Amino acid sequence: MPHFQFHLDHTDANSMARVGRWDTPHGTVETPAFMPVGTRGSVKGVWPHQLQEVGAQMILANTYHLALRPGEKVVKELGGLHRFMNWNGPILTDSGGFQIFSLTELRQLDNDKVVFKSHVDGSLLELTPARAMQIQEDLGADCIMCLDECPPHDAPVSRLEEAVDRTTRWAQLCRDSHQREDQALFGIVQGATNPKLRERSAQGLLPLEFPGYAVGGLSVGEAPEEMYSTLDVTTPMLPVNKPRYLMGVGRPIDIIEGVLRGIDLFDCVMPTRNARNATAFTSQGKIKMRNLKHQTDTGPLDPECDCPTCTDYSRGFMRHLFTVGEMLGPMLLSVHNLAFYQKVVRELKTAIMANAGMEYRAEFLARTS
Ligand code: GUN
Ligand code: ZN
Repeated sequence: MPHFQFHLDHTDANSMARVGRWDTPHGTVETPAFMPVGTRGSVKGVWPHQLQEVGAQMILANTYHLALRPGEKVVKELGGLHRFMNWNGPILTDSGGFQIFSLTELRQLDNDKVVFKSHVDGSLLELTPARAMQIQEDLGADCIMCLDECPPHDAPVSRLEEAVDRTTRWAQLCRDSHQREDQALFGIVQGATNPKLRERSAQGLLPLEFPGYAVGGLSVGEAPEEMYSTLDVTTPMLPVNKPRYLMGVGRPIDIIEGVLRGIDLFDCVMPTRNARNATAFTSQGKIKMRNLKHQTDTGPLDPECDCPTCTDYSRGFMRHLFTVGEMLGPMLLSVHNLAFYQKVVRELKTAIMANAGMEYRAEFLARTS
């Protein structure tokens, strides 16, 4: 039995959207799929059984953060990431490549490695491609990422080119040192919004025959239309019969636009982060829960939602929780926002099966904006 198998059930007749199933050692992921983010081994404020209840099938954690605390050897000793966080479904770990972008002030980058000065206590963490593989093998996720370099989208072309070539070289080294056959190692295509650089990146990675490919370097400050046009040229370069993962994206509409362009997997902190600052995603668009207009509202957050939060709590109570700073507010809203994201991908799947992915986008835009 192979540990991984990706099977396409249907491709939309009118877009590049696909519906498929990805079998992993910890279960099947129905694609397109949205992965909630549990950077440090916890999807903030949400129990694993609640993730399951809202329909999440795969979740994400991060190499950099877990290597710093508690350390990958501690996670390994505690039985690996699945047992550690009490999530027995599929898990993906990101490599730390994104932190090269997000922690610019705290890292030194050269051709062989990146050295981070811990944002916690100033200690040094050195990531080489081999070390990123060793950490991710110890953590034990089902799907792991090559160490890559995500540069700012507006860096000079020479700088973007350097990042692409470093990412390609590192991908080869990651593949060479990765041992565990029960983990799928993905390559990451970089190249910002430049079609030629995306081509260069994809051409460098494809001969390595990764079992799946991620598109990185997007949703880092470029305009949404630039991200969409980059996907228009990039996904067609990737194998049809392997999963494609758009890293760190995004708003619900970005997920819809990504799916229509042939992306299968997504992750983003947005549903949980927005929940913590009192923003709800609903079938009628975003709402701010601190607004006085919700004070005596007996209705649910979203009349179209059947999540545990919308079933049991009123808008008026939710507003109260945020007004006084009760931690139940972010907890209940995180569950709802994650349920909303899962509902969007479920509805998209149904639409794609009927070759109506584009109609779904039109209908979604009409009611949410
Ligand atoms: N998360 C969002 N974008 C990226 C990226 O370009 N690389 C990695 N490793 N993670 C990401
Ligand atoms: Zn809800």
